[in-house]
Amino acid sequence: MSPNAPAPLSAGAPWIVMKFGGTSVATLPRWQNIRELVSSRRAEGARVLVVVSALTGITDALKQLCAQEDKGKRIEAYQAIAQRHYDLLDHMQLAAPETLAERLRELARLAEEGPALLGELAWSALVQAHGELMSSALGAAFLSHAGLPTQWVDARECLAAIALPNQNERTKLLSAMVEAKPDPALNARLEKLGEVFITQGFIARESQSRTVLLGRGGSDTSASYFGALLKAQRVEIWTDVAGMFTANPRQVPGARLLQKLDYEEAQEIASTGAKVLHPRCLSPLREPRVPMLIKDTNRPELEGTVIGPEVREHAPSVKAISARKGITLVSMESVGMWQQVGFLSDVFAHFKQHGLSVDLISSAETNVTVSLDPTENLLDSDAVAALASDLAKVCRVKVIAPCAAITMVGRGMRSMLHTLSSVLAEFGQLRVHLISQSSNNLNLTFVVDESVVDELVPRLHEMLIAAGALRTDDSALFGPSWQSLYGSGETVMAADAWWRAECRDQLLALAAEATPRYVYHLPTVRRQARELKTLTAVDRMHYAVKANTHPAILRALAEEGFGFECVSPGELKAVMAVVPETAPLLFTPNFAPREDYAWALTTRAAVSLDSLYPLEHWGEVFRGREIVLRVDLGRGLGHHEKVRTGGSGSKFGLPVDQLDAFLRLADTHGVVVRGLHAHLGSGILDVKHWGEVYSQLASIAERIGSVAFLDIGGGLGVPSHPGEARLDIAALDETLRKVKAAYPHYQLWMEPGRYLVADAGALITRVTQQKGKGSWRYLGVDTGMNSLIRPALYDAWHEIVNLTRLDEAATALYQVVGPICESGDVIGSDRRLPEAREGDVVLIAQAGAYGKVMASPYNLRDEAEEVILE
Ligand code: LLP
Repeated sequence: MSPNAPAPLSAGAPWIVMKFGGTSVATLPRWQNIRELVSSRRAEGARVLVVVSALTGITDALKQLCAQEDKGKRIEAYQAIAQRHYDLLDHMQLAAPETLAERLRELARLAEEGPALLGELAWSALVQAHGELMSSALGAAFLSHAGLPTQWVDARECLAAIALPNQNERTKLLSAMVEAKPDPALNARLEKLGEVFITQGFIARESQSRTVLLGRGGSDTSASYFGALLKAQRVEIWTDVAGMFTANPRQVPGARLLQKLDYEEAQEIASTGAKVLHPRCLSPLREPRVPMLIKDTNRPELEGTVIGPEVREHAPSVKAISARKGITLVSMESVGMWQQVGFLSDVFAHFKQHGLSVDLISSAETNVTVSLDPTENLLDSDAVAALASDLAKVCRVKVIAPCAAITMVGRGMRSMLHTLSSVLAEFGQLRVHLISQSSNNLNLTFVVDESVVDELVPRLHEMLIAAGALRTDDSALFGPSWQSLYGSGETVMAADAWWRAECRDQLLALAAEATPRYVYHLPTVRRQARELKTLTAVDRMHYAVKANTHPAILRALAEEGFGFECVSPGELKAVMAVVPETAPLLFTPNFAPREDYAWALTTRAAVSLDSLYPLEHWGEVFRGREIVLRVDLGRGLGHHEKVRTGGSGSKFGLPVDQLDAFLRLADTHGVVVRGLHAHLGSGILDVKHWGEVYSQLASIAERIGSVAFLDIGGGLGVPSHPGEARLDIAALDETLRKVKAAYPHYQLWMEPGRYLVADAGALITRVTQQKGKGSWRYLGVDTGMNSLIRPALYDAWHEIVNLTRLDEAATALYQVVGPICESGDVIGSDRRLPEAREGDVVLIAQAGAYGKVMASPYNLRDEAEEVILE
């Protein structure tokens, strides 16, 4: 025994099962990696059982061997397969161990002999099983040679397939199932043999001792069977990605690693599209309550996903959104079927007869619609046509394809519906063929046209985060994004925020003097302004002052060369009081009284109109003047329905169908439309939006003739939830430059508010009291919706931190509430924070936009004062 070898294990030491897939066992460096990982588990004091797949490509090569009718070709195929193993042995500088030599001899014999003796299916199963038999034999030799004595175990001696109803010879031999219960005898037998073992995934034996295959997801399932048999401490699945994600990372690079899931959730995510794990492999672990850990072989330092028995200590959250393509819907219509005994049974008999398994079902008085999932069915058009023609005998059939099923997964979906309003609204623009809510309350599925999903899923993922339905702030559940782990980098939210490190002490000192206080960090305002100035396509930038009218901010933005967009005489006056006379001004009111326009026209501001009324009734006020016309492009966008300013449900903008009437009135009064304006909403994170607005405005401007500039509004969003991606300003510029190239004769104006100031402001407040109520814990602070109404009004999300205890572990789950006499006075719900004490300073981030300006004297609580940090 070498001096640092771990002490021998005693009887009853726990087991860890580690499974490695095809690519993880195909090269020498990968095996060296396996050796390290296995010894680290052994060093934890565990017995280790390694379960391996065949070397990558070998299972396919074996299948091809099986497909050859010609013996010579089969032998050739055998030789190529054997050579792959010899090559790897060569790299390992190992001679072929007897276990492998024996397998190779048997495979050669099987290739020579063909299926005649054993029968096609049994022969094919045995041939294919050799992939794993060989890789495990090779692995045992390598690990033992590398100083980790490893026993080779034949999985067929441990895993016995069970007979199932409706099983034919094919499923029995090629898609077998095992009932794995803790088996103390196996445990005892192995304990006597050693400490580290290696066996095969994918294979088992049946009642006549023939070799059978476990079908899809086979090796992972084997690992689970062994985990259950040995009642292991855990089963580790080592693969090429760190675990399960909140969406398919190939579709949604911002998808977050799911660090903890319960069996049912993980199974649901696996069944509705995630490829990392086969849904089948979780059920063996449930009863013995063996946890599963998914890990990245190349990045063992990453946390991975732990799947185990249900954990209840987290806020309810949607865990993932997935999409399955290739779904076929079969809609069956029959008058008077409702509650007719046997109708459904007749219909489903046809599905059974065609070997098709049904996934989703929805029914109405005269219609039943079901979906067929291609992963569970061989769905070629012939199979569907044959089914349809049989069904036509009992009802009217319509086949709708290709469709896709979009599924949101989370424990207790029904209790989260209220958080999904914006997400559901998104489906309002689409053809939804079927909606289904699983009876286990774990998923909500929408079947839509397949063509829309690639674009839709990333958007929905973003909206779920923005709506606080996917609680990415819970860092115990949601890990880093795929992009930040494997991609070219993503701006990590607020990790470098000014208040976190740079100004923390200053903030604590300010809070010691007085709370609540709004604190604004001018360097952040300037940084944002300079970033926007890199938009070369934009001819004139205005700051929408409604976001924050603090004079120091107005002054700083004037210095950065911004103009100002104002919506009331009050805002105009506040701006004019502090900025130089050269700064351009816009006046874009809505339903303002006549005198506001009359007064604004006495200033240098460009005045905009957004209805017929002013010209119809107060034409003389505008006579001979140039104005800006705000139009409604028929749709609104933004982080919440209350901030969407387009479409007939919104009071803003002149509908385009009234344009001619407006132009006639303008003509009558000698009014010239010099600018066109549209602003569709606030908190938009899709760069394409502004390009579309420019194009639409340009085409309207072409009809008018007198237009010189197009104001495409503001609305530039800043991500508020961890993991949301920032607006890509370079991409925005690119988009704008393209559309501008098509209509180069218009000036391009913008008027963002939030983007400039949101991150620059924080609200500091102090802990007053705490209260426990049932399983809820309330953390009281000394201000609430009177200072910051956005959470109550828009369910807006603001990061909340305990500034006093920034470095302490966040172990409590709080509802952070203010002192206002309203149930809606909740600044943040289900926030994970350190245990707080009275007097702790709590900081509410991103409060620079629409914070103080929307504050009220409600309950006559003192308003938060404002402090500027230069
Ligand atoms: N232009 C017009 C005509 C606007 O109505 C607005 C905002 C903006 C520009 C600036 O939008 P921004 O870039 O800040 O998104 N209180 C809500 C936002 C309401 C925005 C009202 N209009 C919030 O706290 O999210």
